[in-house]
Amino acid sequence: MLRLFSAFALILALMTVSCGPQSREENMKPSIEEIIKSSLDRSLIQYKSMYGVLPDTLFPRSLDNEGQLVTNRSPWWTSGFYPGSLWYLYEYSGDETVLEMAQAKTEVLEPEQYNNMDHDIGFKMLCSYGNGIRITGDSSATPILIQSAESLISRFMPNAGVIKSWEGFKEYKYPVIIDNMMNLELLFWASKVSGDPKYREVALSHAKTTLNNHYREDNSSYHVLAYDSDTGEVLAKKTAQGFADESAWARGQAWGLYGYVMTYRESKDPVFLEHAKKIAEFLLDHPNLPEDHIPYWDFDAPDIPDALRDASAAAIIASALIELSGHVDGKVKNKFSVSAERIIRSLSSKQYLAAAGENGNFILKHSVGHKPRNSEMDVPLSYADYYFIEALMRLKNLGAD
Ligand code: GLY
Repeated sequence: MLRLFSAFALILALMTVSCGPQSREENMKPSIEEIIKSSLDRSLIQYKSMYGVLPDTLFPRSLDNEGQLVTNRSPWWTSGFYPGSLWYLYEYSGDETVLEMAQAKTEVLEPEQYNNMDHDIGFKMLCSYGNGIRITGDSSATPILIQSAESLISRFMPNAGVIKSWEGFKEYKYPVIIDNMMNLELLFWASKVSGDPKYREVALSHAKTTLNNHYREDNSSYHVLAYDSDTGEVLAKKTAQGFADESAWARGQAWGLYGYVMTYRESKDPVFLEHAKKIAEFLLDHPNLPEDHIPYWDFDAPDIPDALRDASAAAIIASALIELSGHVDGKVKNKFSVSAERIIRSLSSKQYLAAAGENGNFILKHSVGHKPRNSEMDVPLSYADYYFIEALMRLKNLGAD
């Protein structure tokens, strides 16, 4: 018996020698639950401090080259992200001061319900008012969101089947950008709440037409398509923010992935799920996706591996993959959830997550806004923070199931 015990002890000792360092490393690696908590706690610190330095009617956008805060007024496309982040952080913490901050910043956006000068109203109003209604259950702002949906569908071009994104691009009058997929969520919401199917019909038409026209054989997306609004003909396939017309601009791919996962959730049409899976496979199998899963700003940037990374694209992809993994089974489910966790771990590392009180009170470092214009290069961006917080909350809620 004693001999048997000694042999067992020897095997254990040998295992400790051969597996010891790796096991210790594994043991030292924080759990995803710990990461979610510490990243959300850090986000709370940053965004409460941000509130203290912001003028009442302005929103945080980024930092300039001197590290000074860049703000924007409500018409700018990013204005909903800070209030939206505050709503998520209130949902996380239950902190009443954060509730007051979220309410105050959301109210500044009220005039935007009538802004039909571009497609960005979905970003602005659903992230802010939409989260507020969802979290508090107070639906008094519903008419504001219905009016916002009206403003968005006023841009629909029936013969082309898509919503016009901008008032013009180069020589073209009817540009549609892949980012526009994100604004469809406002339309699905409006039909559900109002009972009027017209918003949803526009959303489905836009999603189908974009799937047919914006995507390449390899399941990457163009950034900007120019349409003839009378015939629906695609006149040109271009980029505004990517490296080249034929390249895969990282945030554009991220918007497309998120947009089709959301469109599947709202429509239950398997065509959109299949498409979302193909986009995810394009991204995750791409030879230029770095080991830490934080993409370069463009998958075809000429200076890879020295090209800038884009944390905003990573955060959007992570949030989308977490949802997508809930719609699929088997190997791909595992692939998508493992990749999402890898992104969250990378973004929660010192390399990307700001130390408390640093980074101008933004949460994430190292995003790229508009590289071809040399604008917002390697900076924090409010939408990187928003989708990071959303991804953390989605992961947290998965754990709670
Ligand atoms: N919608 C603009 C951007 O992604 O930069």
